[in-house]
Amino acid sequence: MRKRIGILTSGGDCPGLNCVIRAVVSHATLTYDWEVLGIPYATKGLLERQTIALNMHGWDLRGIDPLLNMGGTILGTINKGDTLAHIDEMLASYEALALDALIAIGGDGSLSIINELATQGNWNLVAIPKTIDNDVALTERAIGFDTAVNTIVDAINRLTFTAASHDRVMIVEVMGRTAGHLALHSGIAGGADVILIPELAYTIKGLCQHIAELRDRWQRKFAIVVVAEGAKLCMEDMSNTTNSSPAPNSPILTLPPPKCGKGQYIAEQIALCSGNLIDTRVSVLGHIQRGGIPSALDRLTATVFGKAAVDLVAKGQFGQMLAWQHGEVVAVPIQEAVAQSPLHVDPDGYLVQSARSLGIYVGEKT
Ligand code: F6P
Repeated sequence: MRKRIGILTSGGDCPGLNCVIRAVVSHATLTYDWEVLGIPYATKGLLERQTIALNMHGWDLRGIDPLLNMGGTILGTINKGDTLAHIDEMLASYEALALDALIAIGGDGSLSIINELATQGNWNLVAIPKTIDNDVALTERAIGFDTAVNTIVDAINRLTFTAASHDRVMIVEVMGRTAGHLALHSGIAGGADVILIPELAYTIKGLCQHIAELRDRWQRKFAIVVVAEGAKLCMEDMSNTTNSSPAPNSPILTLPPPKCGKGQYIAEQIALCSGNLIDTRVSVLGHIQRGGIPSALDRLTATVFGKAAVDLVAKGQFGQMLAWQHGEVVAVPIQEAVAQSPLHVDPDGYLVQSARSLGIYVGEKT
């Protein structure tokens, strides 16, 4: 019998989601002749039992497929859990929509919710990981991460020229509340002098000494500091910020631990440490990191994940998430992936070691 499968995008958007939708629709239609229904706004669409018929020739009358290079998601998405107040109605939606399977594209938070619903409702679920934070466990790559890294590297490149021209310290605040993969990868690739991530607490003293050393020892008058929004100040510094200034004539540091954005706080601390001799500027990249045209790598990952998801449905292998491991696409249990998420940067891992050996300050060794 002809299968009817649903597809939804959930959690924060990112570049590459439309590439997955394209791959799923193309493979399901061409290879299996299935019906594919898009469910708008994730669990909201499920609850309201809304669907959009998707077929591979419907995108554009001239046959041009714009989904490959279009950021965002044509299905819309939500990253709030308020629809869960109506859990019984939601559970019944799968049957009401007469779905044979559901393909959900999400990050660790939203996949955890959908997996719970699928378990309770006995749905046939296949998951695909996406997140610019790259913190879904058991996969080396989540869709959207590569594009976001490239976006940040591009921003760092631009900021480096203006930083050098004005002898300034530029602070670039990037996303990553709990995991620092985005800051670490883009900081190394962009040539940052300092990378602050949630996994490795920093001290004002260590940070300021590093900037001072760049100036005094290496005559580098500008610097680039990449800070994740979830970067953590050492407890030591939080309890006694007055001990953290390395400069002899600097004023006493009286700022409390950050209430403002991390980037702003760090900029103020660097200026204070230098007795206001160092000029700082802050760029908060914010949702620019979530937008844009997907990179080639994200398109590739999205395409192979989308194809593999359809094949899992064909084989009746449910409760699985597609993952990239050692250059291969594999399937792992969704339950295991969400239980081990968010995946943190390994503080002793190769990337942190490489950053340190290149003279980048990445916080304190714990
Ligand atoms: O999940 C990715 C992420 O980009 C986080 O790094 C960030 O803190 C968050 O989403 C912001 O999401 P929103 O503003 O859409 O709630």
